[in-house]
Formats: sequence, structure tokens, C-alpha cells
Amino acid sequence: MSRILTRFPQGFHWGAGTSAHQVEGGNRGNDWWRFEQQPGAIRGGARSGDACRHWERFDQDFARARGYGHTMHRLSLEWSRIEPARGRHDAAAIAHYHEVFASLRRHGLTPLVTLHHFTNPLWIADSGGWEARATLDRFDEFVRFCAREFGGEVDWWCTVNEPEVGAFRAYSEGVWPPGRRDDGRALGVMANLLEAHGRACRILHDEDRADADGDGRAAVVGFAKHLPQFVPDRPWFIPDVLRANLEDRVFNTAVLHAAASGDIALSIPGAAAVNRHVPELEKSLDYIGLNYYTRWRVRMFARIPHVARRGAPLNDLGWEVWPAGLGEAARRAAGTGAPVLVTEHGLADAADALRPRALVESLLGLGRAIEAGTPVIGYLHWSLMDNFEWAEGYEGRFGLEHVDFDDPARPRTPRRSAGILTRIARANAIDEDLAREVGANTGG
Ligand code: FCB
Repeated sequence: MSRILTRFPQGFHWGAGTSAHQVEGGNRGNDWWRFEQQPGAIRGGARSGDACRHWERFDQDFARARGYGHTMHRLSLEWSRIEPARGRHDAAAIAHYHEVFASLRRHGLTPLVTLHHFTNPLWIADSGGWEARATLDRFDEFVRFCAREFGGEVDWWCTVNEPEVGAFRAYSEGVWPPGRRDDGRALGVMANLLEAHGRACRILHDEDRADADGDGRAAVVGFAKHLPQFVPDRPWFIPDVLRANLEDRVFNTAVLHAAASGDIALSIPGAAAVNRHVPELEKSLDYIGLNYYTRWRVRMFARIPHVARRGAPLNDLGWEVWPAGLGEAARRAAGTGAPVLVTEHGLADAADALRPRALVESLLGLGRAIEAGTPVIGYLHWSLMDNFEWAEGYEGRFGLEHVDFDDPARPRTPRRSAGILTRIARANAIDEDLAREVGANTGG
């Protein structure tokens, strides 16, 4: 037996994630679908279209996930399918998701269910989207509906995916729908998404009283925080230092602080600040979802403000592959006082050239953080399979499985990394042989 380098805690959750719009196919009723039809909106002119046809193929997908040793699976409910018009619920879509949960159960996978993963029904987008306060009320209603309808099958809820990413990409950078470039609006939307999380947390605890897995907890609620590290590109150049600090403060510190304290305090020079206390946000985390991918070097007065470290290994989208960051991000997320569930981590790497080593090194770093006392309860890789990577179209290949999008059947082929994660999940540990096989640096 080769020496164990890291052993994960008992009951650690292993798995992978997806989101409805990225994998299901045929989601025509949301703002993303409409956005994709605009020329130039998506890299290569791609459209989500049939995506991975997961809508039809979910059962086989879950069977394979189980075969990979996964015990948990993250997915999202598509609001526009369940409620295609305000207050009108679609029986066929609801029945479909019941089948999805039955299938997960049959395959021994615990569902972690995201209620908002970037997409909005058209009727929400057309009535002001997340700038409108009324959207919070509509989302409350959707959350209440899901808690009552699916609470018997679901215990683990992720209210909102990456409020900071959704707000900035859509309202500040303008590269996601509705394509605005206005920092003040971005702050307002981010605050509303954070508030929506807090309110959803209350609703889920009130409404979901059914303990699906019999562990004594009927609703375990958190949201997913995207936690990149921001460092100045030129540490001797004060403007870069200031900008890196500022971005880290509004994007990371303020969001983590809001979820722990209920105090939303968001500011960017030149934009109206948002300051408010949301009682429902206070202590709204049964766990904190951590999405970690990379670190950015920040430049002031530059056309491209975020760059990768020169000479660093880069993924297919040009993001630095920095495995030590996962453990560091977990330590930081744990500062909220909540246990950390890694809800996303991975890299766009079609050839699977960097992923095996990066995966093992990242998990070794996570193991070290756990040994040092960081409470981490699970790891969900992004993603189970290649999928529609938002504005990057089909260029960002994040899957443990390759998907052939030229073939109408969308065949899936496991990459080497799928097998590596399987070995780790089954052993709940990483040993020296595996580390050697992928050429991992075990020193930390
Ligand atoms: C995250 C998103 C997820 C996927 C990955 C690569 O920001 O939550 O849907 O696009 O990035």
C-alpha cells in the first residue's frame, strides 16, 4: 500500500456540478436564450441550443456519476421552465424534475439544488430583472414553491450562484444579459441578489420540513461564492495595488461579510454606494459554497485589467492554473463561520493536459487546509461534462467527460481526470502513487 498523503474527513461529499441552462438543452424561455441570438454575443456565434441534451439523458448521466464514486450531485432548477409566466406553473416541467430527483436517489446521489444559476425567465427580465425590487418578491414565491414541491426529495439547497459574478458580468462589464455597463447598477443588483439569498434561506427553513435523507436535517442552505484572488500585477505600482485591494473588497470581502453579518456595504469609486442591513441575511449560511478557479493580476489604466501571471500554466481560457489557491480560498471562506462546501472547482482543458495534476495538487492543498482546522465538508468538481460555457460558448471545456457537440447524440467520453477523481473519491484519500502518476508536487 502506498503512503497516504491526505485523508478526507468521514462522510466527505464527492461529486460534480452542472446548471440547467448549460446542460439541459431547449431552454427557450429565459434571458440567456434571447441574448445568444444576438450576433457577436457569444464566442464563435455559439448558442446553447440542445446543449448536452441532459434533459433527456439525465438518468444515464447520473448512473455514470455514481460509477465515478460520486455521492453528491449539484444541479439547478430552471425557473423559466417551472414558472413560464408569473404564477403559472408547468406540470410537465415539475414532473420532469421529480423524475430527476428519483433518478438521483436510485443512483445513490444526494442532490444539491441551485435555485438561481444566472438565468432569468423572460417575464422577469422584461420587468426590470434584478434591478427591480419586485423581482425579490417573485423569487421568494418561486423559492416557496420549490421548497413545498421538492422539499421531500431535496435537503441541500444553494439559493443563488455567484451573486457577484452575475452582477458584474451583466451590469458592469456588460458581456452577459442584459448587457449594461454601469457600476452603480451592478452594485444594486449584487445587493438584491444577496438579499434574495437571505430571504430564500428563511423561506427554505420555514417551508422545507421534510428530511429527505433521514439525517435529521430537512434544509441545509447556502449560496455559492466565486472566490478568485486579486493581486497587483506590479506590486511596486501603487495604482495596481489600490485597484487589486478595491476589487477584492467589493467582490470578495463585502460578499462574505454580508452573508455572515447581514450588513451589505458595497462601493466603487464613482458609483452610488449601497449600504443596508438585511435581517434575513444574518447567519444565513448553513454552509458556504465555494467556487474557486484562479487568481488574477490586476492592472490600473489598462485595456485588459485582469491578466494571468506571465509564465504561469494557463487553462484554455487563459486563466492561471494555481492549485494552491483552493486551500487558501477555503480558509478564507471559512472566515464566515460556516462549513465550506466546494461547489465548483475545475479548469477549461479540452486536452486534459493540465487537469490531472492540477486536480490532485488542488485537493492536496485542500487536505492541508482541513488538517489545519478549516471545516470543509465536500468537493464538487465543475463540471460533470463539457457544456455551454456562457459567453465563451463551447470553447471552455470544463468536463470530467468530453462531449462531442458535433454529433446530434452528444456522446460523452470520460477524460483521464474522471478516473483520477474516482480513485480519490473511493479512497476518500490521496496516496503517493497517485500523486506520482500525475506528476504532482506534494510539498505544498
Ligand atoms: C462559474 C459558473 C459556472 C461555470 C464556471 C466555469 O462562474 O458558476 O456556471 O460557468 O464558472
